[in-house]
Amino acid sequence: MGFKALCLGLFFVFFLSYIHAPIPDNVEESWKIMALDAAAKVFSLMAMCIEKMGIIKYEELISIILSLDYTQPHSDEYLTVTDTAFIDIPVRLYLPKRKSEIPRRAVIYVHGGAFCFGSFKNRVFDYLNRWTANKLDAVVVSVDYRKAPQHKFPVPFEDVLTAVKFFLQDKILTKYGVDPTRICISGDSSGSAFVAAVTQQIQNDPEMKHKIKTQALIYPSLQIIDSYLPSFRENEHGILLTRDLAIKLVSSYLTEDETFPQAVKRNQYMPLESKHLFKFVNWSILLPEKYRKDHVYTEPILGSPGYSLPVLTDVRASPLVANDSQLQNLPLTYILTCEYDILRDDGLMFVSRLRNVGVQVTHDHIENGIHGALLYTVPPLYLRLGFRIRDMYISWLDKNL
Ligand SMILES: *[C@@H]1O[C@H](CO)[C@@H](O)[C@H](O)[C@H]1NC(C)=O
Ligand SMILES: *[C@@H]1O[C@H](CO)[C@@H](O)[C@H](O)[C@H]1NC(C)=O
Repeated sequence: MGFKALCLGLFFVFFLSYIHAPIPDNVEESWKIMALDAAAKVFSLMAMCIEKMGIIKYEELISIILSLDYTQPHSDEYLTVTDTAFIDIPVRLYLPKRKSEIPRRAVIYVHGGAFCFGSFKNRVFDYLNRWTANKLDAVVVSVDYRKAPQHKFPVPFEDVLTAVKFFLQDKILTKYGVDPTRICISGDSSGSAFVAAVTQQIQNDPEMKHKIKTQALIYPSLQIIDSYLPSFRENEHGILLTRDLAIKLVSSYLTEDETFPQAVKRNQYMPLESKHLFKFVNWSILLPEKYRKDHVYTEPILGSPGYSLPVLTDVRASPLVANDSQLQNLPLTYILTCEYDILRDDGLMFVSRLRNVGVQVTHDHIENGIHGALLYTVPPLYLRLGFRIRDMYISWLDKNL
């Protein structure tokens, strides 16, 4: 009893101290967001304490909590929903029941979760995919993949690629009544890191008969080579996703090395042999002037110490650093970025790089947007911003897929 009261007391003390963190003036529903953010930060702090005490790892604790929210596949009068596997990759399928004269469009959805968390079974993704299937009268395939820290790069990426390739076979598309010329891959946050990387692989693979028509990236994470872009600086203590937390989780996707996150925090972790990649994240050229503000560009410090992890120079982990000829073949792309998001500049620079090589891009930037808002579209936590993002994404898809 005493211990519980102590925990609750501590929770409130921390909660109150975080709730004073400044929230930009133009953010709507600011009280709600402030409370959500404070609760998330206190919760995160407690999970870190529990990890330090050696009881359970941070990522495992959060995963257990998220698994309490899992849904069963639930069919209704419009959709047949089933959980199955593509080879051995779990997927949830949403198949419209109404007869269709012509093959349908399809959306493959890859959920976010900082490379460590979540599942298509979480209510928020189940709602979103159901909504997509209904609104677009489309077949939706929601993909799960093994996650960090147990499964590091490239396992999660390979899982998504395997599922996508499996789906793109003639016999499978025919089985589900899908039009091979109208397939989109979408994802949010770390999910869209996989989407962008998988799309590059498919479009550049001469063995793949069917290609992707469009990719949709919602506040995407697109590179792991520079942790000090202007958006990382401005949103260091950002709402719902801080720089430290992002670094902790991404690090656990990349390596076991416990010294690595500290080096990433200092932005001194890239090896000398990565020099040629930095022109692809040179924000002094690739960011529109408006976002460069007063930030001063400095050349990256390489090789001090510099980790020789192959993943650090791998385009499958940093789709933003693919060269121009790899980007050229990419399909019509939708990118949504939020102003108050450490990942903002990943998305903004990808817009520039794609447009520079002639890829068509639709870019929606939300001036008062925050990272992860799409997660707040299921009870009891609603944000108007979450619905706005969902509706922008769906209406773009409806017109372009
Ligand atoms: C980045 O761009 C600036 C010009 O704004 C240039 O001076 C610098 O050499 C570039 N650095 C890299 C690594 O591309
Ligand atoms: C671009 O990258 C691909 C794959 O790594 C490579 O085969 C190709 O030679 C590169 N092209 C240029 C122009 O550097």
